[in-house]
Amino acid sequence: MKILFIGDVVGSLGREMVSEYLPKLKKQYQPDVTIVNGENAAAGRGITEKIYRQFLQDGANIVTLGNHAWDNREIFEFIDKAKFLVRPANFPEGTPGAGMIMTKVMGYEIAVINVQGRTFMPPLDCPFETVKQLVEKAREHTPYIFVDFHAEATSEKQAMGWFLDGKVSAVVGTHTHVQTADQRILPNGTAYLTDVGMTGPYDGILGMAREGVLKKFLTSLPVRFEVPKSGRKILSGCLVELQNKTGKAVKIDRILISEDSPFIAE
Ligand SMILES: [Fe+2]
Ligand SMILES: [Fe+2]
Repeated sequence: MKILFIGDVVGSLGREMVSEYLPKLKKQYQPDVTIVNGENAAAGRGITEKIYRQFLQDGANIVTLGNHAWDNREIFEFIDKAKFLVRPANFPEGTPGAGMIMTKVMGYEIAVINVQGRTFMPPLDCPFETVKQLVEKAREHTPYIFVDFHAEATSEKQAMGWFLDGKVSAVVGTHTHVQTADQRILPNGTAYLTDVGMTGPYDGILGMAREGVLKKFLTSLPVRFEVPKSGRKILSGCLVELQNKTGKAVKIDRILISEDSPFIAE
């Protein structure tokens, strides 16, 4: 059983990368389940129903979100009917949408959980307590459990990896937009990667046009960041391979496609 995960899709360039490369990646790696983080897909801020549907059309089975989930107000109109869209689970009770989705893909029942960190981020319910309860619920149905931990601090992300080792198939980080090179299988069979990285503008700063970000650093004045609509692009992802029946991870590989690390189909 293989899971393909693509990290934070930013703006139109990110969406173009998904449309162009997702079919090629699926052909090459034959994943059973494909998950895309779309929290920045609508001009860097949130997601629209049209974009969500386009991801599904491009080949995603599940779309995860993060702290930017609510930036585009359209989300409130469609999140409750979007069956394959997951928002951070540790928002207060009554928040629209779901923090965990269980679905059957290619004959496998899989649970996908999205949960948000609290270190250097807005306060939310405890991600560890929230995830513990969801994992207990998921394990009654399936051993295939994928956690997208949307967090800022590498320490909090590593802590989540160790916390869930042996309880879920994979803990993969999102949100910082820079792919880390620490992929590993933890001793009890959980695949771990601190951050999968972003998909979108390659020559900006975390996906935003660098002029605005630089201005902010140089002047300390408030600046509205723009998302580049043209230029070079990057796609960041990972591929996790799980043992059938146990759901334990046997392999995790990073995927990076840019002009400096091109996609080469075998
Ligand atoms: Fe993001
Ligand atoms: Fe984020």
